[in-house]
Amino acid sequence: MKADAAIAPQTRAFSAEAGRPAGPCVMVIFGVGGDLTKRKLFPALYNLAKENLLPKQFAMVGVGRHETSVEDFRKKIAQELAEFATSEVEPALVSWLTERLYYHVGTFEDAGAYKRLGELLRQIDKDHSTGGNYFYYLATAPDFFGEITRQLGQAQLTQQEQGRWRRVIYEKPFGNGLPSAHALNQEIEQVLQENQIYRIDHYLGKETVQNILAFRFGNGIFEPVWNRGYIDHVQITVAETVGVETRGGYYDQSGALRDMVPNHIFQLISLVTMEPPVSFDADAVRDEQTKVLRALQPLTEQDVLMRTVRGQYGEGSDGQNRLPGYRSEPRVDPNSKTETFVALKLLMDNWRWAGVPFYLRTGKRLKIRASEIVIQFKSVPFMLFRRTAVERLAPNQFIVHIQPQEGISLQFGAKIPGPIVKLGTVNMDFRYADYFGSKPSTGYERLLYECMIGDATLFQRADMVEASWSVVQPILDVWQALPPRNFPNYPAGSWGPWEANDLLERDGRQWREPGQ
Ligand code: BG6
Repeated sequence: MKADAAIAPQTRAFSAEAGRPAGPCVMVIFGVGGDLTKRKLFPALYNLAKENLLPKQFAMVGVGRHETSVEDFRKKIAQELAEFATSEVEPALVSWLTERLYYHVGTFEDAGAYKRLGELLRQIDKDHSTGGNYFYYLATAPDFFGEITRQLGQAQLTQQEQGRWRRVIYEKPFGNGLPSAHALNQEIEQVLQENQIYRIDHYLGKETVQNILAFRFGNGIFEPVWNRGYIDHVQITVAETVGVETRGGYYDQSGALRDMVPNHIFQLISLVTMEPPVSFDADAVRDEQTKVLRALQPLTEQDVLMRTVRGQYGEGSDGQNRLPGYRSEPRVDPNSKTETFVALKLLMDNWRWAGVPFYLRTGKRLKIRASEIVIQFKSVPFMLFRRTAVERLAPNQFIVHIQPQEGISLQFGAKIPGPIVKLGTVNMDFRYADYFGSKPSTGYERLLYECMIGDATLFQRADMVEASWSVVQPILDVWQALPPRNFPNYPAGSWGPWEANDLLERDGRQWREPGQ
């Protein structure tokens, strides 16, 4: 069943209208008992309330399998907020929020539970004047996405009529490969129109990631050099020091490639490489992102062997403590062949980027936590300094620091004062915190708000998701056919397997060490 009327999404995210409280609505969280809810979603709602971005007419319903009373649910959320809030907890605001919380018990497969949910929502509309506008957050395993969507449709809970809107947010991962993502898209499109679908990628909620757009399209001086004529290569590192913590069950099925690459890292690539959109309308931006994702060169079997590296951490140390190997983590198969590290070299087939390699790496239990994008420019055409003490000129690097420090820096050579001509590498640094102060956030605030105001610019469209999986699928296939024989192959607390360095050294390049 298709939704009745297309409620045209407004595009306010990049307009002067953004920043006002969203309109009346109810948020329904499926899988409310999970980690995401307590660590991210409630702290994000709390921050939104603090910034006066939640409407006065707001309510929230948690859907879970376990019986619990509304009072106990409210108490539990208040306690969790005290633990996980990213900003100071004000009791009056916590009460305001918890007074709007409801709990609905039911299993995801039970049609009766959706009927009762509909009754509860209608009652909430009366009590809180929420106007029949609902958004559902599916914080469940992706196996339930199809079922929940179908049931919501059957219970008439996705129909948009008489100006009221209904939207669904899908947590990542959206599918576990191209076939399943495609099937899932088809399944949910039976029920929803694309403008009701919000496939979330929390990297797009990060200020520094959004700043890539502002930086590229709000400044004239970089655009002329932002292409194959001037750029030697691009590196993206997303390094984590944490292991798999409590998520071994999920992660052992997923692995680093699925968990990080077709979503977070490809979002970064698309923002760095896309052409200027004709406007900041959701579709104009996403059209350009999709084009560059489609231009990523598909890998042949030979390419997979030559241009991909996988790794799994063994025991190691962070300098102070011994760290266990991946295979000893809770809920991980003791003989697991799942990768916890991946490095890739990708190329893009379009006029702007042909021949410019994109080197990506991400992993768990690496030496430091740091995410950054490095744009390395070509060296000067010849060595003017050959009769001087200058032996080597460091290439210019433009670095987008995503976390933990948020900022941008430009590295260039400068003469070291003195009678001998010697060059040193210096940095021009911009740090967010220095200019704008730092605002404690979970990264989910912006995305929840965007969904409430109906702007899907920062969410993934069906074609983007499928374009991303198409690049990754050949790697998954070859890796599955040729299981790794050398796992574990890097110690926890290191920079990953040596092959990742070799991937660049073969091309006469090297990884920039983040945090420098
Ligand atoms: C999640 C992955 O999507 O992103 C996790 O499932 C990963 O494995 C996390 O740790 C990283 O997010 P952030 O915001 O800490 O870089």
